Amino acid sequence: MGHEQLLHKVADLAYSYYSRREISPVFPPVTPDQLRQAFGASTPVPEQGKDAEKVIAELAHCAEAGIVGQTGSRYFGFVIGGSLPVATAADWLTSVWDQNSGLYATSPAASVVEEVAAKWLLELLGLPAGSSVGFVTGCGMANFTGLAAARHYVLRQAGWDVELDGLNGAPKINVILGNEAHVTIHTALRMLGLGTRNVINIPTDGQGRMIAAELVKALQGCTGPTIVCAQAGNVNTGAFDPIQQITAAAHEKDAWVHVDGAFGLWAAVSDPLKHLVAGVEEADSWATDGHKWLNVPYDCGLIMCAHPEAHRAAMTVSAAYLVQSNKERDPFEWTPEFSRRGRGFTVYAALRHLGRSGVQKMVEGCCARARQMADMLRPHSGVQIINDVVLNQVLVRFNDSDDFTRAVVERVQKDGTCWLSGTTWHNMAAMRISVSNWSTTEKDIELSAQAILRAASHAVAVAR
Ligand SMILES: Cc1ncc(COP(=O)(O)O)c(C=O)c1O
Repeated sequence: MGHEQLLHKVADLAYSYYSRREISPVFPPVTPDQLRQAFGASTPVPEQGKDAEKVIAELAHCAEAGIVGQTGSRYFGFVIGGSLPVATAADWLTSVWDQNSGLYATSPAASVVEEVAAKWLLELLGLPAGSSVGFVTGCGMANFTGLAAARHYVLRQAGWDVELDGLNGAPKINVILGNEAHVTIHTALRMLGLGTRNVINIPTDGQGRMIAAELVKALQGCTGPTIVCAQAGNVNTGAFDPIQQITAAAHEKDAWVHVDGAFGLWAAVSDPLKHLVAGVEEADSWATDGHKWLNVPYDCGLIMCAHPEAHRAAMTVSAAYLVQSNKERDPFEWTPEFSRRGRGFTVYAALRHLGRSGVQKMVEGCCARARQMADMLRPHSGVQIINDVVLNQVLVRFNDSDDFTRAVVERVQKDGTCWLSGTTWHNMAAMRISVSNWSTTEKDIELSAQAILRAASHAVAVAR
């Protein structure tokens, strides 16, 4: 089978997947052993190859038994954006073109599309023009990159070159986080050699927001290089740290402020929501995701930095064989990766397709659906919405009982109408609902709320 026919075949398979997606259980009823058997886990590496069409048909058949409807409109687990059709299409082309997107010399198109998408992103998110932007795998890696730039900058201020001399003998860096910082901040600190034992943790309030007065107190005790991490959008409640107060207090002490805004940074695109990120443009670096609220396919994270020279110094290297451009964007200079996928194509396609108004509508639509879900559940006896629904996240507790709440989550997961997960919020088990998909409608919320209430009433019956 030729190249062209194979790609047509894949388009048919993709179309058939989409047509079944809305009527299949959101989470497939499959066991790991069934998947192992389907993929031939017990057979040795095949001696002979197989026709490409057959391989693809078999792959689709075997994989689909274990594919979760994450791109569908009733998937509310973790914080997972479904992919916009235009972004999926751009992603296919990205694979077909298969550009090594590290250098201008390896792909002029990948370099320039990043440049344009980067400029549009800064405009949309209300961040300073001229900030540097790197396209990484996800917000976790964006946090790493932002904190690497921070480490470079604060140590340079103290007369230390960390890229050259490492951390042995370096001045101590104070790292300040809110108690609710995302775990990927800790991963980044580990990878950067800063560790987590000596981090200064700032207390947070009932919604998970850093208490600014406590930060001010902590900063009084800090001298020398200091990095403060703020959060825009708590992974459970969606709450925002008081960014304006944090940046003002931190900058008084010449500290670097990094904002982890994996999904919350997108509040900046909306007039009714942008107060949540007031002052965010004053920070020094910002991490976010494309694969969450911009609804582009995995993997796509974004790091933006108000100090391009620090960002570049922390990431770039040179070698005799590299054809680096002095004039054009060499994308690898802004990311930890060397060779990589052309992530700018999907971001560009999504932004060009939606425009500012489309991004705004998508973000506001998800928040409206989250409020609708809370409003539909709240009136029922035994149901408690335990967060302020300020964004796209809803936390629900049933009968004020951990066991009961976990049982409801499990029932909903098995029912298949929608999928969501559980969490523990301030020592209480909770159901966690994240509305992050462009295609979720009011009807989807109605069906899902009914499924949740049904699961709760069955759980009551079983408990009796
Ligand atoms: C606040 C926050 N930061 C970082 C991350 C990590 O993002 P990723 O999974 O894209 O690396 C998440 C993921 O949910 C998040 O909510």
